[in-house]
Amino acid sequence: MEKKNQQTVEVNSQDHQLTHGVTLLQGLLDAGVEISHSCGGNGTCGTCRVEVLSDPNQLKPRNDIEAEMAEDRGFERSERLACQLQVACDFKIKIPSAVPTR
Ligand code: FES
Repeated sequence: MEKKNQQTVEVNSQDHQLTHGVTLLQGLLDAGVEISHSCGGNGTCGTCRVEVLSDPNQLKPRNDIEAEMAEDRGFERSERLACQLQVACDFKIKIPSAVPTR
């Protein structure tokens, strides 16, 4: 049963229930999803980058930390840092590092 304070985030084609308001990184880790996070969620390594498959406009805008990295590394609008993005709605993502290569 779906709880009220949870959002459904589809990760690599699999649905997960994440707590509303946590960072996407924390929510994924709590849900047992493997995702790189070398800097521990400080927004400095870029390894937690995910690709948003649903409309990026429905997500919270980038904060200053994420905006700086996005500019430095030339992120597309659909590329977000899981450690800086707050879960505030249902959406779909792909974790590039978790996609099987064959
Ligand atoms: S965990 Fe390092 S930038 Fe997100």
